[in-house]
Amino acid sequence: MELDQFTNILRARDQIMEARRKAGCDEVIYAGKSRKIIGLSCGRKNGNSEILLKEAAMGAEEFGIETEIIRAMELRVKPCNGCDACLVALSKGKIASCPIKDDDVEWILQKTVVEDCGLIVSFPVYYSRPNGYLMSINERMHATMYKHLEVLDKKNRVGGIISVGGSGPARTPLSLIQANMWVQHHHTVVDQIQVYFVGQAGAALEKKETMARAKELGRNVARAMIKPWEEVKYVGEETPISCPVCHCNILQVLDDSTSVVCPSCWVHGKISIENGKMKVKWDEWETTHSQWSLYGLYHHMDDLCQRRTAPSESKVKEMKELRKRYSDYGKIIRPDS
Ligand SMILES: Cc1cc2nc3c(=O)[nH]c(=O)nc-3n(C[C@H](O)[C@H](O)[C@H](O)COP(=O)(O)O)c2cc1C
Repeated sequence: MELDQFTNILRARDQIMEARRKAGCDEVIYAGKSRKIIGLSCGRKNGNSEILLKEAAMGAEEFGIETEIIRAMELRVKPCNGCDACLVALSKGKIASCPIKDDDVEWILQKTVVEDCGLIVSFPVYYSRPNGYLMSINERMHATMYKHLEVLDKKNRVGGIISVGGSGPARTPLSLIQANMWVQHHHTVVDQIQVYFVGQAGAALEKKETMARAKELGRNVARAMIKPWEEVKYVGEETPISCPVCHCNILQVLDDSTSVVCPSCWVHGKISIENGKMKVKWDEWETTHSQWSLYGLYHHMDDLCQRRTAPSESKVKEMKELRKRYSDYGKIIRPDS
């Protein structure tokens, strides 16, 4: 079995499962029977991204799917402060827990990442990528993900992405690919849209075609939830050169100038020009073993666990000395200083 080589994360996973059993934590079973979609809205109350999410929810409801909406902006969302507690817990095979307790992110993650349901996330684009609410929720995911490693096996879990910009394509290039980095950890994206509105909150209502497309996105997520898993396919827009995993076409050109790689999924492709048009032949093995596949995620976490093995006492002492020079250096200023 391909995952057998990742002994560090497999050991940690088994220990965490055992600890969860002992602690009486509920098993999360993705039976593919869920008939609920959670909509995560990261934009303004009644703003454009919320309106489109609600339209998508209405589309999904046509298929008998129940929907619930979370308004991130009305909740307390703090960013990750890099304390590393979640990663240390993972590497020791312990149940991870984020020390930030005075906000609502853990609850948001429980609903969006852990619950057995479909997911549609909608957000405004700020500075060409998803706004800080989504980015903070994304960064805070580690503790939840390490506690519930079973969510990484995305079988039977599907999602959609609605990215809402106020300008045009020049101001939104990084948003879908960035949102994919979060959603693809725990859900398979079956549809995604990048839309633009010049105007105030509510401008979406005047764009009938965009509203119809959002509703279709909701239907597409619902259809995928009802289908047998083997028949689930990506049905959103893509170009002939889109990455086969995230379906975005933000490609990094490699030094050899003959290859590209998707900077999110890390799938490589060979480029050629045919009839004046660029073509990409994507690596087949990497397509099924991308960063967001179970293989790719275990590969990464195995490496993280390996690097966390306790250093020797002399190494700890040496590092403490080296770091002292920097921890003691500099005039740190604050508003109250
Ligand atoms: C701080 C800030 C930065 C923004 N940056 C971008 C941007 O880079 N590209 C873009 O297309 N729109 C940008 N916008 C516009 C919003 O994406 C747009 O107004 C969107 O409709 C807001 O969604 P909402 O109505 O759901 O809140 C920005 C808005 C704000 C407040």
